[in-house]
Amino acid sequence: MDRYELGDILLGRDVIRNKVKELAQELSLYYKDKPVHVIGVLKGSVIFLSDLIREMDAKVHMKLDFLSVSSYGASTKSSGVVKINKDLDESVVNKNLLIVEDIVDTGLTLQYLVNILKERSPKEIKICSLLDKPERRVVDLKADFCGFTIPDEFVVGYGLDYGGYWRNLPDIHVLRKVN
Ligand code: PRP
Ligand code: MN
Ligand code: MG
Repeated sequence: MDRYELGDILLGRDVIRNKVKELAQELSLYYKDKPVHVIGVLKGSVIFLSDLIREMDAKVHMKLDFLSVSSYGASTKSSGVVKINKDLDESVVNKNLLIVEDIVDTGLTLQYLVNILKERSPKEIKICSLLDKPERRVVDLKADFCGFTIPDEFVVGYGLDYGGYWRNLPDIHVLRKVN
């Protein structure tokens, strides 16, 4: 199995903070007059999500719920298998859902989530992702609100992990293969 070490910073904390503020403004405008049910996809989205909602206008009427899915395990390659580990606590019937993700890579996780949530009769489903890696996409899916488009490199930090580690890093780094 390949081994990896922490490489250069791709997106530093200041760059991230500014983008999160921009996204929060966009979202505050969009949800100015409609309540939003924010859905965090555990675990990768939690750092981004917690910064994002605190930058949003406090007048936005929102609730938070979480679900947990996994597709990667300890590998850097998507297995294509998505598994629900923890479902939402609340009903989404007739609600305006905003799914928050750290990254859209192949798109398989979100495609799966959108499909199962659609069956539960929400009013609307929107997606907000901090990162987008379009080169890796295998399904036709795009976030409605997106932070950065990044090249096809495995990245960690600010919620993103490799084998469960490095989520706590304040900057987003690339991983470098150790030979
Ligand atoms: C990662 C990431 C996204 C998903 C994107 O989650 O946080 O949820 O993969 O990949 P995809 O577009 O190819 O489906 P992961 O399964 O690693 O779980 P985690 O969030 O707990 O790290
Ligand atoms: Mn994830
Ligand atoms: Mg992961």
